[in-house]
Amino acid sequence: ATSSWIKKLPSTMQRRLVQTASYLIRRNNVACRFSRYNGLPVASYSTKTVPFTADTYSQKVQRDAKFKQLESQDIEYFKSVLPENSIITDEDDLLFFNEDWMRKYRGQSQLVLKPKTTEQVASILKYCNDNKLAVVPQGGNTGLVGGSNPIFDEIIISLSAMNKIRSFDPVSGILKVDAGVILETADQYLAEQGYIFPLDLGAKGSCHVGGNVACNAGGLRLLRYGSLHGSVLGLEAVLPDGTVYNSMHSLRKDNTGYDLKQLFIGSEGTLGIITGVSILCPSRPQAQNVAFLAVSSYEAVQKVFVQARKELQEILSAFEFMDNTSQKLTAKHLGLEHPIESGDFPFYVLIETSGSNKEHDDEKLETFLGNAMEEGLVDDGIIAQDEAQIQSLWSWRESIPEATTIGGGVYKYDVSIPLADLYGLVEDINTRLNDAGIASLDDESKLVLAALGYGHIGDGNLHLNVSVRKYSPEIETILEPFVYEWIAKKNGSISAEHGLGFQKKNYIGYSKNEIEVKLIKEIKQHYDPNGIMNPYKYV
Ligand code: FAD
Ligand code: MLT
Ligand code: ZN
Repeated sequence: ATSSWIKKLPSTMQRRLVQTASYLIRRNNVACRFSRYNGLPVASYSTKTVPFTADTYSQKVQRDAKFKQLESQDIEYFKSVLPENSIITDEDDLLFFNEDWMRKYRGQSQLVLKPKTTEQVASILKYCNDNKLAVVPQGGNTGLVGGSNPIFDEIIISLSAMNKIRSFDPVSGILKVDAGVILETADQYLAEQGYIFPLDLGAKGSCHVGGNVACNAGGLRLLRYGSLHGSVLGLEAVLPDGTVYNSMHSLRKDNTGYDLKQLFIGSEGTLGIITGVSILCPSRPQAQNVAFLAVSSYEAVQKVFVQARKELQEILSAFEFMDNTSQKLTAKHLGLEHPIESGDFPFYVLIETSGSNKEHDDEKLETFLGNAMEEGLVDDGIIAQDEAQIQSLWSWRESIPEATTIGGGVYKYDVSIPLADLYGLVEDINTRLNDAGIASLDDESKLVLAALGYGHIGDGNLHLNVSVRKYSPEIETILEPFVYEWIAKKNGSISAEHGLGFQKKNYIGYSKNEIEVKLIKEIKQHYDPNGIMNPYKYV
């Protein structure tokens, strides 16, 4: 009802309104998520899901008695560092920070701190380290492995008040930001300068640049812009003892000594708190196309991918695939007809091109699509005719994560598997669920709706999602460790982009050998000898 006047507001205000609404609704204990479809916020609701809490975890993990419990004198200290409105202790207000995006995990932190400066972060961490108070760094809280929330009573250090753009060099394209800058804000700022942030993902309206770096997010255009391990040029981070590590460089090439910043990219808050990011940004493409195609087999998806790389070459900027079940849930979630109305196809593909000459790109894309149709690889398809349609098609793809929670919850596995085998995992999981007699899209009495797959084919990255009506150990034992064993047999990775967090802490051995795990533990021990940084997670 409010959408028409919301649409007239500047986009930053729209986002704030949507975030506030989301927050207020969550405070009333109703899960609510928003995405954009044609610029409108869309909400999904579920009151049924009960997140896992310390009681549920007790079989797996106990609170470590070496950590001190929060006392009033600790709060007094934090009041000497931060203004009162940067300290949250109200139980209702804490809920948003204690619970994750999937409503799968809920911690019991009594305290959120929102520092505004690197010095404040340093004072807080030094105090926590000296007093053995465990902490969880938190960005936009959109992580999908239970890494951004406390497990027990860890103090949450939210970076949301560190949200300044520090500098931008329009010659080199190097952007320097506080860690708490929202990804979409950074990208909008860059758009005004003719540049683009080299990462894009569905949670861009809430996630932080620091959070993206902390979990080495991959996103929708890794195929084009590469990993953050390549584009991040420098970082500022605070170590647990309060030391500020400053490498906010503007250099593309620097071969002096170990590349320490790489350790923090993907460290998921276990080594220190990232407070600043220096990143190389490409020129914003001047011409863009998006095609949405229907494909009749996974075999054909792979062939279209090979053909797209060959024929579109330098203008190919994204290649996403989605299976039929993911589309059924998305259509239901958005309450809209599928973009391809001619039928129900087993797979869909979204292809984006980005270049500098529209005519040239259009011609290439049309030739490619013509050839793909002629060879029978593509059954049907549409090409966006303007910017609004480009956004709509992307929104359709970006709405899948929310749509998978339509029944109440979702078990997520973000895996790398050699392309030929990738979709076999979804098929095998569906077989297991059906054999157990617990899955049905329509029968509300069943625990599970279905397993479904989508993801970044261009990066060999499948998102296996098991959409459920309830989180339950019964489902979990069907899925795990089967999924991880399956991936290990194919020499894949149990995390292509979301990280290990709490969910995969016990499973790193499926993707890393003993020596690798030993070296990782030694690095953790070196930087965080008291283990206060994001405990019970990662390794
Ligand atoms: P949080 O969720 O707050 O934190 C994530 C982890 O980083 C936690 O372990 C936390 O402790 C740590 N952390 C956060 N900030 C800091 C900091 N400043 N210093 C140190 N540690 C920190 N991921 C992808 O890779 N590709 C996708 O396409 C993608 N799409 C998504 C779509 C949706 C709708 C959602 C909900 C999530 C998606 N994600 C995706 C998951 C994801 O990793 C991110 O959304 C994002 O990178 C997390 O950033 P955040 O600021 O929300 O971090
Ligand atoms: C995506 O590609 O949409 C994300 O990684 C989020 C998800 O896996 O749901
Ligand atoms: Zn993804």
